[in-house]
Amino acid sequence: MKRTLGVCYYPEHWPETQWAEDAARMAALGLTWVRIGEFAWSRMEPTPGTYDWAWLDRAIQTLGDHGLKVVLGTPTATPPRWMLDRHPDMLALDKDGKPRGFGSRRHYCFSHLGYRAECAKIVSAMAERYGKNPHVAAWQTDNEYACHATTLSYSNAAKSAFRNWLAQKYQSPDALNRAWGNVFWSMEYSDWSDIGLPNLTVTEPNPSHVMDFRRFASDEVVSFNRLQTDIIRKHSPAPIAHNYMGAVTEFDHFATGADLDIASWDSYPLGFLSDRIPAPADHKLRFVRQGDPDFQAFHHDLYRAVGRGRWWIMEQQPGPVNWAPYNPDPLPGMARLWAWEAFAHGAEAVCYFRWRQAPFAQEQMHAGLLRPDSAPAQAFGEAEQVARELAKMPDVGTAQAHVALIFDYASDWAWEIQPQGRSFSYFWLVFHIYKGLRRLGLNVDILPSDTADLSAYKLVLAPGLFTLSEPLKAALAAHQGTAILGPRTNSKTENFAIPVPLPPNLPGLDAKVIRVESLPPDVPVPLAEGGNLLHWREKLEATATVTEMAEDGWPALVSSGRLHYLAGWPDDQALTRILHRACAAEGVETDPLPEGLRRRDTATHRFLFNYNPVPAEWGGVAIPPAGVHWTEL
Ligand code: GAL
Repeated sequence: MKRTLGVCYYPEHWPETQWAEDAARMAALGLTWVRIGEFAWSRMEPTPGTYDWAWLDRAIQTLGDHGLKVVLGTPTATPPRWMLDRHPDMLALDKDGKPRGFGSRRHYCFSHLGYRAECAKIVSAMAERYGKNPHVAAWQTDNEYACHATTLSYSNAAKSAFRNWLAQKYQSPDALNRAWGNVFWSMEYSDWSDIGLPNLTVTEPNPSHVMDFRRFASDEVVSFNRLQTDIIRKHSPAPIAHNYMGAVTEFDHFATGADLDIASWDSYPLGFLSDRIPAPADHKLRFVRQGDPDFQAFHHDLYRAVGRGRWWIMEQQPGPVNWAPYNPDPLPGMARLWAWEAFAHGAEAVCYFRWRQAPFAQEQMHAGLLRPDSAPAQAFGEAEQVARELAKMPDVGTAQAHVALIFDYASDWAWEIQPQGRSFSYFWLVFHIYKGLRRLGLNVDILPSDTADLSAYKLVLAPGLFTLSEPLKAALAAHQGTAILGPRTNSKTENFAIPVPLPPNLPGLDAKVIRVESLPPDVPVPLAEGGNLLHWREKLEATATVTEMAEDGWPALVSSGRLHYLAGWPDDQALTRILHRACAAEGVETDPLPEGLRRRDTATHRFLFNYNPVPAEWGGVAIPPAGVHWTEL
């Protein structure tokens, strides 16, 4: 497969006289894709029902005339101002019941039927007009579902949709009362219309209520997206993508992914490190201009799974962004390294965001490939270099990993609802384990929690899954390899109750969690062989073999053959030891890497990425800061 580059472009931001020159420069730079359209509703439908496609026809034609392929975005993330006059109640309401108003973007409630009908209309009009356009080679639905925390809405539209969803699921209020345990605090309902949304309660609402609301909200995103894909598919053979985000788990991406052809994500490594990643200050300092060495790779692997093998970077950070607490300039070379790392993880395309820095409105401080005066910015030359390198490079097909890590969106909701300790987070637990694997130089495949076949993997990790799905249980039972589960794995029922027999309740492993404790970050639980459990530990009653013991005499890792259960959150030292031991047992070769250096094997090449601000040396190779090195395998 030919891997390609692209860019995000907003023809509506620039005089039409500039389009041809822009397109010529994009083509000369070696770009293939141009994503357009996703915020242009006010220009497509300036007044209700009156469309103006002429400018978009010409923009697409101009790009096509220069040999560029268009990714056409549906504009539903930015309903124009007139929409509010037609549907004053279309706004999402926040947890306090306050409307999320007009004046930026994503100010809609997924459950509002009137807004859905408007979306269906504009998407139909676009798909009819451009579905057979030879230059429209891919579609994007909406833009970054969940961005700005917009999945949950506490509106009347959401409330009535939630009641219908519950009625379908439980069939009778009695069944719902039993499932949720509503006898507790006299919370029993006698009619669907009694049930509210889980906000504005005096103290915490019932976790089962919140969990169902989270599932419902996720389903609303899925059906909103499907409304669009169903329409587009009627008119266009081109593949459909959505652009997901980093560390955003508000809806089940595997579920939306099932209706799409390509998963893509928007990668802003420096923004994420500054804004999202809970890392110690020295880590943030070391990687301030490069980004966390594992955060991008984690999402590449996650979205490869969401896209069932097909995935892109739809937006790649080109220089300083505008939205993080601090917005440093990337180290020269990073805009190239990030792109190559994506290709090494199997990306079909990497598109930079954006072509030219906008001198107006919210994102005027956000870099592009061009400065506002149209001169090349730092990333322009780096993109040019990647394009030249790609042209010379034979394909870098994805290799089969030996290690699988399970990721489950619903588990993230569950532990957000009931963390039981401020520092317990499912997402960061999984990411922590992923980092441990990457430090050992391993390729990792991420799999969904309903995976039914693990036979390709020698080592499987499933930390923190709140329930075990039936397919996964069967796959684990049949697995001929090492599996490490826990902490918290299988510790709730689907209805969010503690199961009896007590967890983890794994066939063949005699171990029972009899007590759990959460701990402040400065209260470690030392392990006999060194290292600690942090944040979370479980006390086990077990006859299974104790493989790791805490200094206080409680088991920390118990094993029965190749099935292991981890009774806490291991720190780096303990995690490395546990992973090393598991890899050795399965004959998986490890390559412990120096800080900030990462390795990725493709079917044909071994890549090394130096995320450090200083040179790195490995295997006799010197790699400069922000350097990428590859050799044929
Ligand atoms: C993304 C978004 C883009 C732009 C970009 C800025 O989250 O999809 O529209 O806002 O961030 O970094």
